[in-house]
Formats: sequence, structure tokens, C-alpha cells
Amino acid sequence: MVMVSERVAASFTSSKQEGRLVCYDLVRDRGMAVVPSDPSVIVSTTNYVFPLHTDSCCLEKPADVVVLYCVTNASEGGESLLANVNDIIPLLPEDYVDFLLNRRYDINMRPFVLLEKVEGTYHIRLQLGDMLAFCRPDEKEQMQEELKMLIDVLADPANFITVKLKPDECLIVNNRTCLHGRYSFEDGSKREFLRSRSYLIPDIN
Ligand SMILES: [Fe+2]
Repeated sequence: MVMVSERVAASFTSSKQEGRLVCYDLVRDRGMAVVPSDPSVIVSTTNYVFPLHTDSCCLEKPADVVVLYCVTNASEGGESLLANVNDIIPLLPEDYVDFLLNRRYDINMRPFVLLEKVEGTYHIRLQLGDMLAFCRPDEKEQMQEELKMLIDVLADPANFITVKLKPDECLIVNNRTCLHGRYSFEDGSKREFLRSRSYLIPDIN
């Protein structure tokens, strides 16, 4: 993971480990007693199911690549979920896809493009929790209604694959075309992943 982050694409995610700056951060169950419906909860720090999403979707420029390296996985559950949006689009009505391509939400006071077609390939940015947290308050309810069909298709296990990483294995995810998530896992788990996020082409501006 460090090699990918340092040689292929510089990670913009970093943290301090033992006083040293490293190109990844830790994703693990903090054992917090939290309420799943509490919108302020950062799901990745809990052991709840984390539905399919893309990372950093509310940034002006989301990461191109997300790397997840397994230090320790859960004993029960904790499988990673993966779906390519280009496999999902044919499952949706054409007029709904056109709607998603043209709909603009106002998130972080910028126009937010959820679905794009780039040289014949669909790109998506989607993390409903973040989108609801940063959208205009008067758009929240409508956004949830409009995205329900997409969210329901993404929640159907027939439409994604699962993989349970073993220690020292990693996933390298195209964060523009591929959504990722994870199943819930046991309370008090030692599950620990390292995560980096990168731009393939550094922003030269
Ligand atoms: Fe993620």
C-alpha cells in the first residue's frame, strides 16, 4: 500500500503514527457506544454496516484511488462490498439514469454532480450520509426521495460482490467507477485497516 501511495499516486490522506507522518490513516472500530441513526456518527469508526459509497465525494475533486490494507480483520462479518457503477446503470430505468446525469445538488455551496459519463464510462460520487450533512437543508428530503431507487439497487446483495480480506491483503479501488462498503462486524473487534486516498494526476493548479 505504501508503495502504491508513494510511487503510483501520492496519497492526500495522511496521519501521524508513532510521531512519524505516514501516507495513510487508520480505520477501526473505536468501540463507541453510538446510535446508528445519529447523523453525526462517522460510520467507518463503528462496527455497523457501511453501505456502498465512494470516498471523499463531497470534496470538489474526490480521490481517484482508494487503497485499503488489512492489518487485522473481524472474526465475524467485516467483508468488503464492491460494485462498479457501470454494472449498476443497466439495472436502472433509462429516464432515471438521465435524471441522475442532469440533476445538480447544492453541496458545500457548489453544484454537486452525482453521475457523469466520461468517454463512455460512468463515474459516480455517492456517500449519502456526507451528502445529507453538507447539502442545503431544504434539499435533504427531496434528495433522499430522488436517490432511493439507486440506493435500493445498491443495497441488493445480488448487485455487489463481497470479499473478506486477510491480514496483509489490500484492495485498490477506482474511486470514480467503483463503490465500496463493508458488512457489520462483532462488537469489540480488533479489525484494523489502513487507508490511503490518491489523485492519479496531481492537481497542477
Ligand atoms: Fe470508504
